[in-house]
Amino acid sequence: MASPPTPCRLAVLLLGVLCSAAAVAAARYAPADDHLLACGAEAAAVLPDGRRFVPDSGCASTRLRSPAPTLSSAAPPGSPPPPSPLHASARVFSCRASYDLAVRRRGRHILRLHFYPFGPALSDSRFHVGAGGLLLLHNFTASSPVIKEFILPVDSDVLVLTFVPDSGSTAFINAIELVSAPEELVGDIGTLVTSGGAAQIDGLSSQVFETLYRITVAGRKVTPFNDTLWRTWVNDADFLVGTDSTNYKVWSFSGRIAYPKGSRQMTREVAPDNVYSSARSVKPGANVTWGFPVPASSRYLVRMHFCDIVSKALYELYFNIYVNGNLAVKDFDLSSTTGFLAYPYYIDFIVDVEDEGMLKLAIGGLKQSRSDEVSGILNALEIMRMNKTSGGMDGNFPIALDMKYGVSKGIGEVARSLLCGFIFAGLFVALVMLVLRLRIELRNNGTAWSWKPMDSGEGKLAKAYQLVPSKADY
Ligand SMILES: *[C@@H]1O[C@H](CO)[C@@H](O)[C@H](O)[C@H]1NC(C)=O
Ligand SMILES: *[C@@H]1O[C@H](CO)[C@@H](O)[C@H](O)[C@H]1NC(C)=O
Ligand SMILES: *[C@@H]1O[C@H](CO)[C@@H](O)[C@H](O)[C@H]1NC(C)=O
Ligand SMILES: *[C@@H]1O[C@H](CO)[C@@H](O)[C@H](O)[C@H]1NC(C)=O
Repeated sequence: MASPPTPCRLAVLLLGVLCSAAAVAAARYAPADDHLLACGAEAAAVLPDGRRFVPDSGCASTRLRSPAPTLSSAAPPGSPPPPSPLHASARVFSCRASYDLAVRRRGRHILRLHFYPFGPALSDSRFHVGAGGLLLLHNFTASSPVIKEFILPVDSDVLVLTFVPDSGSTAFINAIELVSAPEELVGDIGTLVTSGGAAQIDGLSSQVFETLYRITVAGRKVTPFNDTLWRTWVNDADFLVGTDSTNYKVWSFSGRIAYPKGSRQMTREVAPDNVYSSARSVKPGANVTWGFPVPASSRYLVRMHFCDIVSKALYELYFNIYVNGNLAVKDFDLSSTTGFLAYPYYIDFIVDVEDEGMLKLAIGGLKQSRSDEVSGILNALEIMRMNKTSGGMDGNFPIALDMKYGVSKGIGEVARSLLCGFIFAGLFVALVMLVLRLRIELRNNGTAWSWKPMDSGEGKLAKAYQLVPSKADY
């Protein structure tokens, strides 16, 4: 029988509500730096995950520097609706231009660059992107929609993000995210795996990383809406190689993932619950192998996530972990490492990929396992390319990327500005003509004009890298 609420009881109830609201608020990661820019946009763009991207002009903590006018461009009329509100506009540069992004807290940041080439002029653009003096993208073309993500150390109060068109071309960008990374996201120590064996190395925290793959094994795609750091995790099925389906089982877990209480290393920001709640297991005496096309002659960080959501009791799993065919961990005993079931854990491996351009990862079940069905598991994995030199991802770049404008403009600089002005004027006229032609075509045959993206090698690569946004990502 319910008794009428007394003021005291109401107060307790209210307190309870406040506490749980505070817990939810505290649970959400609040980055010190959180630049979300919709480039070339006239109004803020709000994403389904609740984030608000402000226009890149007239924003207090951001400054756009360019010797020549930049063009804010909107998707041409009649083109298919963009997958995200961020893709409705772009900023186009005919000359080198920079964004100055104010940094409140120095340290590692996540930088995401969104490219959505909504017209042939943009998909033909060829350009370079640098940040804080590091070359991130060299001779880059975005012939299909792509998000490029980097994790980089920032040790100044302003991060200068620079776009340099390749000669005779233009550069563009649709949206920029610069977000402080939580401390625990990248550790300093990893296990270097070579044909000679596995050894610990340190110094990872000062490196620059480019995310190539972020995979939730046997799970449903996790979108920024459900991720603690607005990441996207895709299913692994397309990357299984030479694996007989009788060798594995697929698991999903509806219980609670036991994140260690008060841990500074293992938090929901490393990977959210959804990612740990699914896994693929391997049976004793068999391998499950995944293969990922990657650019050759680079060093990679491979983070493999494990969380025992499959065992009924501790000490049931014993397995080997292979990185590019080399034994990385022998007789891995997850229970002894974590002490609990459903307890998330990860290992960072470092691997050099030379000419083969393929990164292979495998788990191998051991015959001495307790169960004859399940011997090892994998829940998720991330593959990040590391910088080759202190100058950037692909080596040093001959153009100084962070040149200051307006400080001392030499004759050459003025001449270049004028030239850029002309190129800009030409670009503008071309765009106006394109819009006019489209109008006429639309009026004449009444059908919507649709622009077909040309698939160059770059586009295939971008698709293979699985960071291609689709409507469901936003
Ligand atoms: C970029 O690539 C194009 C075509 O492959 C090439 O002509 C150009 O020289 C390259 N630019 C730089 C700076 O590497
Ligand atoms: C978020 O995760 C929940 C639980 O897994 C799922 O039901 C929901 O569809 C997800 N939402 C989005 C937008 O991905
Ligand atoms: C599993 O993969 C490793 C590394 O490629 C290989 O050495 C081993 O022989 C494989 N085991 C089985 C049972 O295929
Ligand atoms: C990567 O860049 C950092 C500077 O941000 C530098 O300290 C490090 O040595 C570079 N790595 C390599 C392999 O050169």
